Amino acid sequence: MAVDIVVLAAGQGTRMGSSLPKVLHPLAGRPLLGHVLTTARTLADGNLIVVTGAGGDTVRKRLANPHIQWVEQTQQLGTGHAVLQALPALSTDSIVLILYGDVPLIASATLKALVARVKGKTLALLTVELGDPTGYGRIVRDAAGEVVGIVEQKDATQEQLAINEVNTGVLALGSDCLRQCLPSVGNDNNQHEYYLTDIIALARQQGYSIQTLRPLAAEEVQGVNTRAQLASLERYYQRRLAAQLMDSGVSLADPDRFDCRGQLSAGRDVHIDVNCVFEGQVTLGDNVRIGPNTVIRDADIGSGVVIKAHSVIEGPVRIEDGAEVGPFARLRQGTHLGEGAKIGNFVETKQAQVGPGSKINHLSYVGDAELGAGVNIGAGTITCNYDGVNKHKTVVGDGAFIGSNTSLVAPVVVGDGATVGAGSTITHDVSDHSLAVARGKQRSVDNWSRPRRKDGE
Ligand code: UD1
Ligand code: CA
Repeated sequence: MAVDIVVLAAGQGTRMGSSLPKVLHPLAGRPLLGHVLTTARTLADGNLIVVTGAGGDTVRKRLANPHIQWVEQTQQLGTGHAVLQALPALSTDSIVLILYGDVPLIASATLKALVARVKGKTLALLTVELGDPTGYGRIVRDAAGEVVGIVEQKDATQEQLAINEVNTGVLALGSDCLRQCLPSVGNDNNQHEYYLTDIIALARQQGYSIQTLRPLAAEEVQGVNTRAQLASLERYYQRRLAAQLMDSGVSLADPDRFDCRGQLSAGRDVHIDVNCVFEGQVTLGDNVRIGPNTVIRDADIGSGVVIKAHSVIEGPVRIEDGAEVGPFARLRQGTHLGEGAKIGNFVETKQAQVGPGSKINHLSYVGDAELGAGVNIGAGTITCNYDGVNKHKTVVGDGAFIGSNTSLVAPVVVGDGATVGAGSTITHDVSDHSLAVARGKQRSVDNWSRPRRKDGE
């Protein structure tokens, strides 16, 4: 049977104290709902339906995807009412899996196990035992241990409040069962809401039996209602990722001070110091060392590369084997460092090809530039690539030596093996193996006497 998935995401998320819809708040750099949808798509071979309400337009725009059917719930009258809105979009003969947009870490394996239990007149409910079940719907069982219903916190008796087994909200059942029971759900309860949970008792009356299953980790079913809960789930996610990386041969100076908000793949014997942030797609070769407080986004980094402390890489950037970067370097989009190249402190590069073995060791800006192999760029050198309207290119040939504090006014070409004297402003091409010096000539005045202060002033 095909699996249809309904994701409930219409709640306002008042407790986040935010103008951003709750399900768009990021966990590991991605919206909460994005995590749920990724997991959902590992299972859904039927329809994938998302119920939105407050901020629905923003949600639909942010997570636009042709596989998703969006359903609007204009008034949040309860979880049962939310699923009712999705009913027309379901297949006639499918297994329906209900998920929450604010429960981001639900695992595919858990959901597959849950779906596998739905057969004939059986539906499957994901439950957990909590030390403190306050706020959750309690699972009510009969003397034989069979589930007979779910009672919400606000409607529970003293006796029911003592039940530790709670409803996670995740539920799988046949679409026929849902069609049969859901329309009968009323709102005659403490909150005057249509509770999805009421279908359990209704299904039971129709002769269905209810199977329960536990998730592998309690965090899988943890919802986000507050920023504190979001932060604690984020840390759980990061610790889990850190553990996976360490298992695969990466050393982390402190797994509690590691953040990946994207995909990080690393070779063997990589060492990552504290407080590093990885974003987007980052690949690290073998023996890469990353210094503390480094931020790396969308970068492909070769083997043996050393990134020293406080460097920022804003890719797409490619760094070839054995190159060295930092401390305090900023590599921006379109930077390509050749093998063994060196970028030192307070250097910014952008759309820059830096050939193998070339060095930009201190205090420079190199943008829209193509540097050959073995080039040496002196401290304080700037490519003047922008005339206020257009960007222009600087080309520096193999083995050229650019003296300190040079301005290279693009478009300009410095030839192979050429030398530029320190402090030059280069506005014309420099031919191969020549010396260019373009600065005011030094004058000397003998026995110069400095100005003196006039009396009485
Ligand atoms: C719900 C369950 C409760 C369970 C708990 C687990 C019901 C009646 N209760 O309670 O048994 O223990 O989740 O966290 O189902 N939503 C809509 N439209 C609505 C109302 C809610 O889309 O009209 C969405 C919310 O955005 C949220 C989810 O459904 O993602 C759960 O809603 P919420 O109000 O948090 O339910 P709880 O009262 O916590
Ligand atoms: Ca909730």
